[in-house]
Amino acid sequence: ATGDTTLDVGFANTASCQSAITFIDGDAGILRYRGYPIEQLAENSSFLEVSYLVLFGELPTRDQLDAFSSDIAKHHLLDERMREMFRSLPRKSHPMPVLSAGLNALSTFAYSKWGEGAYDLDRATKVLLGSLPTLAAYGYKNSVGEPFLYPERQLSYIENFLRMSFGLPTHPYPFDDAITRALDVLLILHADHEQNCSTSTVRMVGSSGANIYVSVAAGVSALSGPLHGGANQAVLEMLQGIRAEGGDVTSYVNKVKDRKDTTKLMGFGHRIYKNYDPRAAIVKKHADQILRTHGGNDELLDLALKLEEVALSDSYFQERKLYPNVDFYTGLIYQAMGFPQNMFTVLFALGRLPGWIAHFREQASDPATKINRPRQIYVGETERSYVPMEQRG
Ligand code: SDX
Repeated sequence: ATGDTTLDVGFANTASCQSAITFIDGDAGILRYRGYPIEQLAENSSFLEVSYLVLFGELPTRDQLDAFSSDIAKHHLLDERMREMFRSLPRKSHPMPVLSAGLNALSTFAYSKWGEGAYDLDRATKVLLGSLPTLAAYGYKNSVGEPFLYPERQLSYIENFLRMSFGLPTHPYPFDDAITRALDVLLILHADHEQNCSTSTVRMVGSSGANIYVSVAAGVSALSGPLHGGANQAVLEMLQGIRAEGGDVTSYVNKVKDRKDTTKLMGFGHRIYKNYDPRAAIVKKHADQILRTHGGNDELLDLALKLEEVALSDSYFQERKLYPNVDFYTGLIYQAMGFPQNMFTVLFALGRLPGWIAHFREQASDPATKINRPRQIYVGETERSYVPMEQRG
């Protein structure tokens, strides 16, 4: 900088990258994974099938999906010493740093088992997809002081996660197809979202040559922030706060508009979507089904529906193109499934994992897709000379 800080701003907008995984048109509210519309995938596919698509670019044949699922299932079972690691952590820990710690530990166990081969991307892909549900469930079990359960080979990916999270060795787990399918769909909706904060973090860390386990662990940390993945927990806290103060959504909306503090309408707004987030529309439909039929907090759902109605009819939100995003309704469903609020972002991470891995693999295979050092515009002091202590004011 030569004292003139009006540098060409265009210079700052070069930190972008190419990717062939996800297409988003934020103005039109379009989201496609490898060209397939999110609405069709949510309706017809499964999380593991979508994971295969996001990772390898094509929908799998039946044999390819069966082999992929079987390989992943082998990695649901963790090294027994991982249990001791979880048991060593405080029960009141937030599950997101616990999940990140578990992923960093996973890289050490993988390396001790396979040496350099641990970081073979195809192997690591299946180790991560297989291990994350167990790491997530162990984190939850440790927080409630219940015994860890081993995975069962005859169960599906989602069933294993639900049973390891909520099951007990003393009782058979009461599976509920509607809950299992709803979670399958929610994970599909979170599978990828191009260069969001956590995915960019995985790419950034991976671009230094760090292995995929620690890069994904960094992505988990980025996701934990309330402006990103932590928003699904913040939405529930917001709705509970509104209910505690009498359920007057209009006065809450006015408080957001008054901007006297940093109050935001959590679950609203998006960096890219300046239209309804297509995922939010799908989640809203499932929320209505699950909460009306499976109990859960339909009082909070009614509050959320009213809040959406009031906000969408208000010029403050219309002018700023603020619509519900993927986080607005998801927490209501997770709560109805029995998850505590601090587990909601862990569920987001479970869904986003195939996207993180796909971006890591894409960057590793094609330097053109690499982000490794964003540009900056220097706006600090121009050159000046050192001032001895006795001459300072
Ligand atoms: C996710 O990137 C991704 O794809 C993320 C994600 C994914 O799948 O990975 O989609 C997941 O992170 C969804 C977003 C979850 N976060 C929240 O719901 C938190 C609440 N939302 C806001 O923090 C905000 O909307 C952001 C951060 C999500 C997006 O911010 P933008 O689009 O950059 O908007 P901005 O901060 O530049 O604000 C523009 C205007 C401002 O008002 P003015 O100063 O112009 O008068 O809109 C206002 C903001 O104050 N605004 C809000 C608001 N979001 C923006 N006002 C009230 N409530 C909000 N939620």
